[in-house]
Amino acid sequence: MTSPLSDLLARRQPGYALEGPFYSDPEVYQRDLETLFYREWLFAIPAAQLTKTGAYTRMKIGAYDVILVKGADGEIRGFHNSCRHRGSMICKGREGQVAKLVCPYHQWTYELDGRLLWARDMGPEFDPSKHNLRPVHVRDLCGLIYISLAKDAPDFAPFAALGTPYLQVHDLHRAKVAHQSTIIEKANWKLVWENNRECYHCAGSHPALCNSFSLDPEIAGVNPDGSISPKLQGHFDRCAAAGAPAQFEIDAGGQFRFARMPLQETAVSYTMDGKAACARPLGRVALPDAGSLMVFHYPSTWNHFLPDISMTFRVTPIGPEETEVTTTWLVDRDAVEGVDYDLKRLTEVWLHTNDEDREIVEANQQGVNSPAYVPGPYSPVEESGVAQFIDWYAQKMQRGLAPTALAAE
Ligand code: FES
Ligand SMILES: [Fe+2]
Repeated sequence: MTSPLSDLLARRQPGYALEGPFYSDPEVYQRDLETLFYREWLFAIPAAQLTKTGAYTRMKIGAYDVILVKGADGEIRGFHNSCRHRGSMICKGREGQVAKLVCPYHQWTYELDGRLLWARDMGPEFDPSKHNLRPVHVRDLCGLIYISLAKDAPDFAPFAALGTPYLQVHDLHRAKVAHQSTIIEKANWKLVWENNRECYHCAGSHPALCNSFSLDPEIAGVNPDGSISPKLQGHFDRCAAAGAPAQFEIDAGGQFRFARMPLQETAVSYTMDGKAACARPLGRVALPDAGSLMVFHYPSTWNHFLPDISMTFRVTPIGPEETEVTTTWLVDRDAVEGVDYDLKRLTEVWLHTNDEDREIVEANQQGVNSPAYVPGPYSPVEESGVAQFIDWYAQKMQRGLAPTALAAE
């Protein structure tokens, strides 16, 4: 590394982009994993992704590999994908459905709740109960599954308390996955986030999104001084009166935020013409023009919950200059494709937008890799969200340098 992380953090200029090594250095990347991704709550999947008993999906986070599996009791649990015999991966497919979790190596067999049920020829002294799968922490917040790899997970309660009133009207437990897309962006995960946290680039890059997404400064965001325009406050009040909490709220640590933001005046959903994407709404948001409940939870997810559909986005670092972004479109479980919604119409705006963002952040990565790159200033008008993300990141990393910082399991 050119400079230790502590030096890079100490000389960081608030309000400016980070120095190059933050976006490419393998040691910084490893610290990002250890300080954030191995410790914080991470969005994993919408609960609706696992519909049947035994349905599982895998999630790779740095060196870890986690199985999320639905038990016979309907609960989704998470386990490290490493056999308690000699450590083989148990599930090799990306997703599937199983009766039991059976290790492919010597067929040790685990119940869907992680208990070791069967192991051949292990002798009379062998105690199966000492060899259950190792669990990860799992929480279900109104149909959104979060996991933590930490030995002692951070307190989930503040996030759940703030988020529940916003989320429960969306009835995500009634959802079905209409579509899921996973793309790899050849850029550091922080560049993916920085790009997400501003719409300075939207007018120039997102023609499809700009049919519905509002760039009107009076309604597109909260002013840099934290004040809210009367027009935006009027929207929040109208939504709240219709039973859909909307007010902009961010937690004290800056890790998560909820706000139900208006779309363009004529738009009700993220479609090419701004009209609804699904005729059978998911949830009970009675106001068609309630806009999008925009939620972020660093470091792993941003979301859009609309009156007709919902979308989750998951950000997973793959390497110092590679990030996976998984987008999931949720519709009501009784909505019928071809009748209530058209898959192309439902997905095209964000498929385009994701791809345009991928191009942007990949070019950003190439540029910051140049030895000539010098961090420039964020726009105080347009990029306060980026500054907020970077401040959160720097503060977390600074704390992570402390010798008492907890290690992940
Ligand atoms: S490593 Fe899993 S059964 Fe042997
Ligand atoms: Fe974008």
